[in-house]
Amino acid sequence: MRPLIAGNWKMNCRTDEAAVLARGIAAGATSVASFADLLVCPPATQLCAVARLLAGTPVAVGGQDCSNAPRGAHTGDIAADMLSDCGATYVIVGHSERRASHGETDEIVREKAVAALTAGLVPIVCVGETAEQRAAGQETEAVGWQLIGSLPKPFPGIVAYEPIWAIGSGRPCGAEDVTQMHAFIREELMRQFGPESGRAVPILYGGSVKSDNAAGLLSLPEVGGALVGGASLDAASFLAIAAAVPKRAATS
Ligand code: PGA
Repeated sequence: MRPLIAGNWKMNCRTDEAAVLARGIAAGATSVASFADLLVCPPATQLCAVARLLAGTPVAVGGQDCSNAPRGAHTGDIAADMLSDCGATYVIVGHSERRASHGETDEIVREKAVAALTAGLVPIVCVGETAEQRAAGQETEAVGWQLIGSLPKPFPGIVAYEPIWAIGSGRPCGAEDVTQMHAFIREELMRQFGPESGRAVPILYGGSVKSDNAAGLLSLPEVGGALVGGASLDAASFLAIAAAVPKRAATS
């Protein structure tokens, strides 16, 4: 399985900035594309333009969210097939920022993942514990319930483990804790979907991944790539993260 380095641009980039960033990533993409898959998730207003710009390059494009409904009276929402119509092949669902500020429950996230799959998109389902849950020693329990509630059956998608306290903090989860949580997620995926399907789901790590800590995080067992926020807004640092993919992981 090739590692996936995914950039979540969040609510950043007007047209000119998005074009500069996409062009910068495309310019360096070929050198890393032999050992890593690259994905950028621009804001919805830039998705079509960025997808057009990146067509024919090794960089895929994804949405940051999709509706759980296929069509209809959902002001402000975007259906999964509208994202694919723009050129998206992936979509992030259940990011903690959406769970927190848009009241997205596990059930809604699961419905969004189903909508994504129905539209032919690969869903990247985010899970992760709060600082309070970790302090109380409840991190595996919290993530376990999110996995049970948020993943549809079958699940030919991707899981992103993003401890909420690590996002945007500049303080990634420690190596030991990442190793432990990714092992737990793998176990849980195999329990839910059976050994073969459970083993096939890539598990990304997200939360303050930067060019100077990427090599360490990406070399940990069961880390199948990274979901990158802040550092994905600079082409050089995003490409440096991709370049830090351990080459042994690329061939396994
Ligand atoms: P960060 O964000 O890399 O800025 O911590 C990660 C994310 O929210 O996906």
